[in-house]
Amino acid sequence: MVDLSGKTALVTGGSRGIGRAICLQLAEAGANVAINYWRNRKAAEEVAEGIRAHGCQAAVYKANVANEGQLHDMFESLKGDFGKLDILVSNAASGVLKPAIELTRKHWQWTLDINAATLLHLVQHALPLMGDDGGKVVAISSIGSVRAIPNYSAVGASKAALESLVRHLAVELAPQGINVNIVSAGVVDTDALKHFPNRDDLLGNSRIKTPAGRLTSPEDVADVTLFMVSPQAKMIHGQTVVVDGGYSIVA
Ligand SMILES: NC(=O)c1ccc[n+]([C@@H]2O[C@H](COP(=O)([O-])OP(=O)(O)OC[C@H]3O[C@@H](n4cnc5c(N)ncnc54)[C@H](OP(=O)(O)O)[C@@H]3O)[C@@H](O)[C@H]2O)c1
Repeated sequence: MVDLSGKTALVTGGSRGIGRAICLQLAEAGANVAINYWRNRKAAEEVAEGIRAHGCQAAVYKANVANEGQLHDMFESLKGDFGKLDILVSNAASGVLKPAIELTRKHWQWTLDINAATLLHLVQHALPLMGDDGGKVVAISSIGSVRAIPNYSAVGASKAALESLVRHLAVELAPQGINVNIVSAGVVDTDALKHFPNRDDLLGNSRIKTPAGRLTSPEDVADVTLFMVSPQAKMIHGQTVVVDGGYSIVA
């Protein structure tokens, strides 16, 4: 049983899908949770209610994680509301889904910026709020960082950049007692998949090929994230843990 009583966590994109499951499990473990969202406040408020039902403090912050001014304002609000931050989960992602050959420079820059550079800016804002006890940072990636998935060229490259950045941050921040790691998921049936032109193929192939016999769920990803932010994971730095039921190791 992970006990995060007294800890404060921020989850970007915490209102839906994988982020929502992470928020609820953090609260189940006793953490107070700040939920970031961008467009859908109602979904964020519902997660906040779920967190309060566990007896924990919750707040929702609207901010586009790719916008530096909005990130700044979000952390100012968080500082006022919670006074500190122990756990940062960088989960929100976006990006252009097209074959590599159709990508423009603008597509590339937007996708790399929102999925990779955002972690840098989040960590820079979070550090002053992490106290002498250190902290935990987890970024959510996908197996598309190391596998070629149709239409995933820009997002896959952005996730590869994210994983590399995590290793560098892990080395720089380990002396301050801060663990930085990646949880990388297989195919999870969330709203994000509705943007994939090849959604049905992705889901079908994954169902057939996953040795564990089913798709990865948001809760599966949240389970591992919870472990990575627990004291038990204190000597894990700069690693990518894959949660995919064995999908990515099948030849
Ligand atoms: N689904 C999969 O198969 C899968 C597989 C591997 C990895 N992942 C990764 O898991 C993470 C979550 O994906 P998901 O499938 O759970 O997505 P999702 O269900 O589509 O949820 C996306 C969340 O991110 C928020 N969001 C989107 N753009 C944002 C922005 N610019 N600023 C702030 N928040 C933003 C959304 O809030 P609003 O609704 O308010 O916009 C929502 O809370 C991503 O990093 C994704 O790459 C997903």
